[in-house]
Amino acid sequence: MTKPVFILNGPNLNLLGLREPHIYGHATLGDVEAACAALGDDLGLATRFLQSNAEHELIGWIHEAREAASAVVINPAAYTHTSVAILDALTAFEGPVIEVHISNIHRREAFRHHSYVSLRADAVIAGCGTDGYLLALRRVARLIAPA
Ligand code: DQA
Repeated sequence: MTKPVFILNGPNLNLLGLREPHIYGHATLGDVEAACAALGDDLGLATRFLQSNAEHELIGWIHEAREAASAVVINPAAYTHTSVAILDALTAFEGPVIEVHISNIHRREAFRHHSYVSLRADAVIAGCGTDGYLLALRRVARLIAPA
């Protein structure tokens, strides 16, 4: 039995669907979780979907992933641009890491153009809306498929 894919969401993503819908769309985080679970079923991937506004909690889940996850899909939200600690935690995880951003961070303010997490991510998906999570899961399925 393959370990689950951890899908981690950083600060303010609990407000998805309510917060700046012109940037992040109308889907809620619950909608995204349900879509990921459904696609995971199709792909034969178990998923564990988590969100926190606290950096230490995200780091704790990444540590847990070292033993318990086959891959990490992460939208670190604002911590993308600030957190060496999340980068270091992801560097200590050996499986695939896919970074997701709902918006195209490169078309936004200059402070969003740099990502610490991208120094570790195997792939980065930005600007595809919440479909980015589904694209990330398809990529994970490809990367961890038995040879
Ligand atoms: C985000 C982009 C970040 O710059 C921002 O702080 C977020 C969400 C995105 O999904 O587009 O909270 O990661």
